[in-house]
Amino acid sequence: MKKKVFSGMRPTGRLHLGHLVGALDNWVEMQDQYDCIFGIVDWHALTSEYQDVSQIKENVIDIAIDWLASGLDPEKSTLMVQSLVPEHAELHLLFSMFVPIPWLERVPTYKEQIVQLKEKDLSTYGFLGYPVLQAADILIYKAEFVPVGEDQVSHIELSREIARRFNNLYAPVFPEPKPKLTKAARLPGTDGRKMSKSYRNEIQLSEDPKSIRQKVLTMMTDPARMRRTDPGNPEICPVFDHHKVFTDTESREWVVEGCKSAGIGCIDCKNRLLEDMLPLVEPLYEKRVELEKSLGYVNDVLSEGSKAAREIASSTMDDVRQSMGLKY
Ligand code: TRP
Ligand code: SF4
Repeated sequence: MKKKVFSGMRPTGRLHLGHLVGALDNWVEMQDQYDCIFGIVDWHALTSEYQDVSQIKENVIDIAIDWLASGLDPEKSTLMVQSLVPEHAELHLLFSMFVPIPWLERVPTYKEQIVQLKEKDLSTYGFLGYPVLQAADILIYKAEFVPVGEDQVSHIELSREIARRFNNLYAPVFPEPKPKLTKAARLPGTDGRKMSKSYRNEIQLSEDPKSIRQKVLTMMTDPARMRRTDPGNPEICPVFDHHKVFTDTESREWVVEGCKSAGIGCIDCKNRLLEDMLPLVEPLYEKRVELEKSLGYVNDVLSEGSKAAREIASSTMDDVRQSMGLKY
């Protein structure tokens, strides 16, 4: 039997190239080897977006389209929406009975996010419980592996502690999930900072190739290279970070040599990048255009996937209720 994998994304907008090389490519690869469930976690989006819920539905469909366009395959994996499997909420509630508040206050992302998202009031019960809900997402499917980035490791660690505490208090129901770290490729945004929707520096993964070309051609470079005759340093240039992801060793050697000696211009360098980048992303754009015309299909994928997920979730909840003395 294949080992179980769960991972999720919050529906906070269209995905960008950082998601593709940071997470999705890995997920797509894992589909054959593991029994994968991927969730669009809309309640998690609410923990920070509760004041404006107008975008959530559209964002859920956008993520589903991006997932399908990138190669997540409903024939191989289960693609679900968190709120369509309300058992996650029941498990979250039961966990909340025995999870000590200090465990949650200690999670590094908790205080960081409160500081980073100052414009939002995150002093809520739901936001503090974010990682408890995440533990419920993972444990309800008894997932053994959770593919995530470095920033999520503390949440998976908390899921392990919750599983352990449940198993000790009641009955051994849950395996302890392990993070499966995504190989960290650094893909900065067009201004050199981390690619992020909130910085408006992202290249969407299913963006029109014309607009991708435009963004790459105006992308920030080594600021010391003001003129074509100034030598540059690829190691501090965001364009070169993209080369590391999209082009081969030979092209990168050409860039390093040409940049340091001012033998090539930044436009040459960017055009070389686009030669390899565009053929990779163009099919995603075309697939998106196609899927946007078949929203019925996209909705079916999510409702079928959520139905299948719900069967597993219900069976886990039977064990949970039984072991907590809630079977009447
Ligand atoms: N917290 C995750 C993130 O921000 C999203 C998430 C919610 C998740 N539930 C999950 C990831 C379960 C992995 C497993 O990226
Ligand atoms: Fe960056 Fe390439 Fe210009 Fe060098 S040549 S500064 S690596 S864009």
